[in-house]
Amino acid sequence: MDLLAVALAGVHFALPLAYYLYVKARWLPKPWNLKLDENYRPKVTIILPTYNEAKLIKARLDNLYGQDYPKNLMEIIVIDSNSNDGTPEIVERWAKQHSELTLKLIREEARRGKAHALNHALKYANGEIIVIADADAFWPSDALSKAVMILSDPSIGAVSCLKRPLGSGIAGVEGSYRRYYNVLRIAESKAYSTPIFHGELAAFKADLLKDVGGFPSDIGADDSYTATKIVLKGFRAIIPEDLWIDEKVPEENYLSWRIRRAQHLIQHFVMSLRFREVPSKFRRILLIEGYLHLVNPWLLAVAAIMLLFALLHHSIIAVATLTLGLMLLTFKPYRTWITAQLCLIVGAIRNLYTKEIVWAKQIK
Ligand code: GDD
Ligand code: MN
Repeated sequence: MDLLAVALAGVHFALPLAYYLYVKARWLPKPWNLKLDENYRPKVTIILPTYNEAKLIKARLDNLYGQDYPKNLMEIIVIDSNSNDGTPEIVERWAKQHSELTLKLIREEARRGKAHALNHALKYANGEIIVIADADAFWPSDALSKAVMILSDPSIGAVSCLKRPLGSGIAGVEGSYRRYYNVLRIAESKAYSTPIFHGELAAFKADLLKDVGGFPSDIGADDSYTATKIVLKGFRAIIPEDLWIDEKVPEENYLSWRIRRAQHLIQHFVMSLRFREVPSKFRRILLIEGYLHLVNPWLLAVAAIMLLFALLHHSIIAVATLTLGLMLLTFKPYRTWITAQLCLIVGAIRNLYTKEIVWAKQIK
């Protein structure tokens, strides 16, 4: 039993490492081969969903105002779901002070979740490009222009960003997690498309978004699932290497925040792996990412349980492996990895009784 456990743990660590090393060597150095059109200047609708964002909303609107994209080609829709901290009032005041920019505020009477709100806002959107912009992120001033430029390539259907965590303390763990994941996002994008998108900046061609029926209101990872559906339509969904945004990381309840995100990604992969006609270049990416999110964490869990049982039988191998596993926790990348695995395991279990489509507001 102890040897089988060691083998399972070996597979658990070896597969993602092999995938990482493979994509870094093979896919990451590939050229983008995009056909960009410098003169592409479509009308853009930025949808900013809010639920109790009074602390951040003004700075976020200022941040969007500071984008170097022409103001007459930009419209912002703030869709607020019954905030009780004065968020919509701040938005109204801001809109009055910036009347040269089109801003629509929609106030929902009940909170039914982010995706529901996005779909509601879509009905009022006039842009050729729809960009989702969470309240707790900050874009560099050329972020929108960069995203639009990439969408000028007719084969690209959707574009998202890389994330850099903002905040003290816990942002360190989040940072090392991001370094690993960002490499995968870029490499997958170069190979074809990435199945993981970020709502902090997720830009879609409006006609494609309509084609796929908008955002799924029963899956938490609305951004990733929608991007994947656009890939199934034959368009690419990519994250380029030079589109970085800053994201606020909660100082408290960091783990429950991570677990909820894990739950949402699990929901996305469970649904996306059921799709039949998947472009072949994307199928392998979807399969391996699906495996990494749905199956791989459990190899570690099963291995740990087997080793604990083997301890009862005084197995030297179990003692040695568990000691090594614990000692490695002093090593940050390993600790970060284990944290991510625990979030995926707890997330899968939580998904059995709650989908967290409407989630608790975290203090950032
Ligand atoms: N209108 C509306 N209604 N907005 C909401 C609701 C809601 O019920 N719930 C959350 N929001 C807004 C927040 O105010 C914020 O602007 C944005 O949606 C994202 O919410 P966060 O609370 O910041 O969530 P997150 O950063 O942890 O979520 C991340 O993962 C989600 C999937 O798990 C982001 O990448 C999201 O974009 C993604 O959907
Ligand atoms: Mn957020």
